[in-house]
Amino acid sequence: MQQYKKRTHTCGQLRASDIRKQVTLTGWVDKRRNLGGLIFVDLRDRHGITQIAFEPDRSGACYELAKSLRSEFVISVSGSVVSRPEGQANKSMPTGEIDVEATELAILNKAETPPFPIEDSIDVTEDLRLKYRYLDLRRPIVQKNLLVRHRAYQVARSYFDRNGFIEIETPILMKSTPEGARDYLVPSRIHHGKFYALPQSPQTYKQILMVAGFDRYFQIVKCFRDEDLRADRQPEFTQIDVEMSFVDENDVLAITEGAIKEMFGSVIGVDTPIPFPRMTHKEAMEQFGSDKPDTRFEMKVGIFSEVVAESGFRVFSEAVKNGGIVAGICAPGAATYSRSQLDGLTDLAKTLGAGGLVYLKLQGDSIECSASKFVTAEETKKIAEALKAKSGDLVLIITGPWQKALTILGSLRLEMANRLNLIPHNKWNFLWVTDFPLLEFSEEDKRFVAVHHPFTSPKLEDIPLLDKDPAKARARAYDLVLNGTEIAGGSIRIHDSALQTKMFGLLGINEAEAKMKFGFLLEAFKYGAPPHGGIAFGFDRIVMYMTGSKSIRDVIAFPKTTSAMSLMDDSPSSVDLKQLEELHIRIV
Ligand code: AMO
Repeated sequence: MQQYKKRTHTCGQLRASDIRKQVTLTGWVDKRRNLGGLIFVDLRDRHGITQIAFEPDRSGACYELAKSLRSEFVISVSGSVVSRPEGQANKSMPTGEIDVEATELAILNKAETPPFPIEDSIDVTEDLRLKYRYLDLRRPIVQKNLLVRHRAYQVARSYFDRNGFIEIETPILMKSTPEGARDYLVPSRIHHGKFYALPQSPQTYKQILMVAGFDRYFQIVKCFRDEDLRADRQPEFTQIDVEMSFVDENDVLAITEGAIKEMFGSVIGVDTPIPFPRMTHKEAMEQFGSDKPDTRFEMKVGIFSEVVAESGFRVFSEAVKNGGIVAGICAPGAATYSRSQLDGLTDLAKTLGAGGLVYLKLQGDSIECSASKFVTAEETKKIAEALKAKSGDLVLIITGPWQKALTILGSLRLEMANRLNLIPHNKWNFLWVTDFPLLEFSEEDKRFVAVHHPFTSPKLEDIPLLDKDPAKARARAYDLVLNGTEIAGGSIRIHDSALQTKMFGLLGINEAEAKMKFGFLLEAFKYGAPPHGGIAFGFDRIVMYMTGSKSIRDVIAFPKTTSAMSLMDDSPSSVDLKQLEELHIRIV
């Protein structure tokens, strides 16, 4: 270990006003250029880059040493701040007016040639970046993302603190809480054959904190879900988790809106007018074919079942008779679509679960229908009118059960908007979706499952429906959507153990099972549970939007791949047999 001079400034700090100062900088060699007799080194730390000049006459012995510098060597350099020669200032660099003329150089560590250059625009696979994540994290763009993330934590903490919320940590080793995904399990060494689960969220704990009287809780917390991963999903992700007592929906929504406004305002300077618009789940589905509608563009869904209820085209009339719908979207200017493009869309609709796709092409006064053999000219005209289609437009029609047909149309809507470049990228459309159904029927399990989670309260006026027609009951649940992504979700909870037991019953969880899984919660509810509700923000997704990142992995320091691997440390990995023996686990 060598002694070296500590830095007096960072690599992003020096300006013309510092000229003639003696300084010491430390950092990584970003680039070295040998200009026949003069060596320039761009020295980089997380604050910026400063150009160091090594001059044969003035730099003395360190000039020779500078010849051995390579990219990513760690150095300490001392010298004086000088003005760059006339015409050589670099206006695009904050330190671009000055050089540090070196008189002392210490190489603190050498580096092997990195597998990719440390710069923003590199053309390498993400896998390589993740394997060498520490090098990837040196790239300014990734550092900026993590700094935005840091700022967002600080603003959120301060906001919730100022609003009377108490930050309380809850266990990571816990009893499994069902949130719809698979649990990550941790075997207990002491209690053979027993397992902890990693929290899918701290849902039960935060409710118990309300029973305990904490009144307003928040936590920035890791959650773990073993589910299929996507661009906006990680197996471990971060929530800002919030719970409040003696509140209704409006209170939780208002606190959330304040938090979002403050975070987006302070961190990235985007003003978000509040309150955010609200839409019921039914409206969202029927207008946008999605429970997280992207409202940055129109192309709304139109349902016109009544227009074709008596149609000779059985695909239409049978769908209506069977209680389903006939609905469509109008893609502006897409009547030019070729036969093969339309075949492609039909294939897409089929992979989304549709039986088929009917389309209308409007050109001048004529309407060409893909099912013209069966659909009358009058019907096509009425359909076009219902969707306000004009000459040049393409109408895409789907039939089927309400949920399925609308969901397919929602996907086609997004697909067409992308293809037709209809999505404005400078908009921040926040939207509340409320009044979700309480339950949905799982064909796979042949029973009801909770749309949100089993602790969500039904709407009070819908409680009688729990006995008569549970599928119709609506929940006191709400999601916050930003540009078509769900960024937060929550609900007003059941705080009454009798109603909670009834809810478990509807979900096919019998008394014994409920007692085994959630006995502690039901028990807690017997001792004076206040009315309460809350929400959890998908923190990574919010930072993804704040930084304009395309993938959630770009805003997480050490993310997993889509196959849940950590390429840097190679986890998951095998463990010693001895470890398994201690846990009484055998791999089969
Ligand atoms: P929910 O399951 O809706 O609610 O989660 C809250 C928010 O967390 C984000 N999110 C994710 N982000 C990244 N990767 C994932 N795998 C992932 N899963 C969810 C979403 C989502 O809106 N306990 C309830 C909250 C409550 O009722 O208070 C819960 O966890 O942005």
